[in-house]
Amino acid sequence: MMSPRTAGATSETGTSDRAAAGEAALEPASAPDTPEHPDGGIPLPRAAEDLRARYLSLLHATLTFALWDAQDGTLWAPRPAVRAVTDRLSARYGLEVVKKSSLRARAEGLDWPRLAHTMVGDRRLENLRYCVEQVIRDGVPGDLIETGVWRGGSCILMRGVLAAYGDTARTVWVADSFAGLPRPDAERYPADAGDLHHQVTVLAVSLAEVRENFRRYGLLDEQVRFLKGWFRDTLPAAPIERLAVLRLDGDMYESTMEALTALYPKLSVGGFCIIDDYGVIEGCRRAVDDFRRDHGVTEEILRIDPSGVYWRRTA
Ligand SMILES: C[S@@+](CC[C@H](N)C(=O)[O-])C[C@H]1O[C@@H](n2cnc3c(N)ncnc32)[C@H](O)[C@@H]1O
Repeated sequence: MMSPRTAGATSETGTSDRAAAGEAALEPASAPDTPEHPDGGIPLPRAAEDLRARYLSLLHATLTFALWDAQDGTLWAPRPAVRAVTDRLSARYGLEVVKKSSLRARAEGLDWPRLAHTMVGDRRLENLRYCVEQVIRDGVPGDLIETGVWRGGSCILMRGVLAAYGDTARTVWVADSFAGLPRPDAERYPADAGDLHHQVTVLAVSLAEVRENFRRYGLLDEQVRFLKGWFRDTLPAAPIERLAVLRLDGDMYESTMEALTALYPKLSVGGFCIIDDYGVIEGCRRAVDDFRRDHGVTEEILRIDPSGVYWRRTA
């Protein structure tokens, strides 16, 4: 997510590995060269693969609002003088003023969608699907977690991939305050001094709303578990044994460091660590760099898009 303090800043983090990270995920699923079945249909295993690819592409496009060319618009906070006018218009005529977004912004997750269920954008969602499919194919043990879920879209995708592969053993952990970001604790985490994320009310999405979003996709069941509260309180005691995918999207130094400290030791070798904000939020990048240095994590950091990075645990 773009930070209120650091919007626009970017940093390079190593070689691009987008192709490996599932860039083709949105290609139309298909098989014009599929051999004819004696009954005229597609042979079942091939048809099942085709359906799985189609389901996951459709799920992705729905989560990002791409079916409507991403034109749901972006959240917008006008200046107070302008707001007085827009509020009057909306009260009087039932109108809403919507700021347009662009396909590029949606692809790279640079906007804050008005309606879409995730703000991470196409590249980072493709990367997430790639990581989950890879741990399933490789039999890497462990659950999946996102720390910082907003409306829940990335976690819904994770649950959808498990469903598409018939994986009934793994849990998707959904960790959030469901009340926005914490006030900065500058004494403990000086990198967060002056951080304004806690004032951003649109980042506070309730647990009820996130549960409802899962339900609408038909993906709310016992394989989804919610961890409600500040990461510093919920993550150290969470009843998680092992993780195969650890996705961090908490924006601040504290949120990133608390998640890495509590959860990285549980990440299996062969599992993936994904950091949503490394390229655009200084506090997040510093937390990751500090943690990697202090814990001897040396796997190469791979760039997904201007914001997101990931690496695969090798030791
Ligand atoms: C940028 S949003 C996450 C976007 C989301 N991953 C998506 O797919 O759209 C950040 C989220 O992190 C949560 N968050 C950040 N720091 C937190 C903390 N220390 N404890 C609990 N929740 C936190 C916020 O409540 C918010 O929902």
